Amino acid sequence: MQARTVSAPAKINIILEVLGRRADGYHDLWSVLTLVDLCDTVTVAPRKRGILLAVRPPVVPPGPENLAFRAAEAFFGTWGRPGGAAITLRKRIPVGGGLGGGSSDAAAVLAALNAMTGRPLMREQLLELAAGLGSDVPFFFSRGTALITGRGEQVADLPPPSPRWLVVALAGEPVSTAWAYGRLPSGKRRVPDPIWTAAAGHTEALLSMAFNRLEEVVFPVRPDLAALKARLAALGAAPVGLTGTGAALFGFAPERAAARAWSAALKAEGGQAWVCRTLRENPIRAAALVG
Ligand code: C5P
Repeated sequence: MQARTVSAPAKINIILEVLGRRADGYHDLWSVLTLVDLCDTVTVAPRKRGILLAVRPPVVPPGPENLAFRAAEAFFGTWGRPGGAAITLRKRIPVGGGLGGGSSDAAAVLAALNAMTGRPLMREQLLELAAGLGSDVPFFFSRGTALITGRGEQVADLPPPSPRWLVVALAGEPVSTAWAYGRLPSGKRRVPDPIWTAAAGHTEALLSMAFNRLEEVVFPVRPDLAALKARLAALGAAPVGLTGTGAALFGFAPERAAARAWSAALKAEGGQAWVCRTLRENPIRAAALVG
């Protein structure tokens, strides 16, 4: 068995509508996500038994509270053979940003383990394990741009938008996902017809409809995030939006030079920013499918 290294990209929610609260406490979502090239690097090496996790820099815990650790446990539990893995996460995706870094790492661990062990698990089994780990994890086995529904576990691939430059910017403290969902007024919402129509066609059209329902509850208590959205728009970014429950925002640029200039401006103002490009392919999916 050979060690495997997989890039684990961040996601952004181009559209995030929360349809309503479910009996199980989760919320039914309707969200269009795409991957961007801000990536963690996940390396998995064989070990006789037990799971060993190293996180560099140590921005998240290396124990069972880490989704990547639990992904490895779940993999060996389903495979049903004794085995272990030494996992290294090289973290670049900011933690608590709504960028899906923890979920992406977990999916990359599943993909790397499956490749390392000769692909004993089928795609459906990997997706089942992914859904058990967290609402966002199954998306990271998609082609890279997808509509997710249910609590996030139902994933339908969409055609990728043509590659676009954007800035990902982060403000202040992380936002708790459970807190943000819990603040939403109850009631049922539906996805407007034009968005449905756009989703059936080109993802480009969806970009012009970027929308995140959670901004309504997050911005009033996080004026720093509302201000960052306004700042990105003032720089010229469009569309601009919160990803997940935050605390990261994205702002699309017409070309690379603009994204670089905006990122430099935000950094000069004391902020954190990354110049990114949307991904047309998902490196995790490729690793899971090709031994
Ligand atoms: O599934 P995951 O652990 O990522 O979800 C974290 C929290 O976010 C959940 O405990 C729940 O409070 C909230 N959530 C939700 N509806 C979703 C996804 C997450 O209410 N579809």
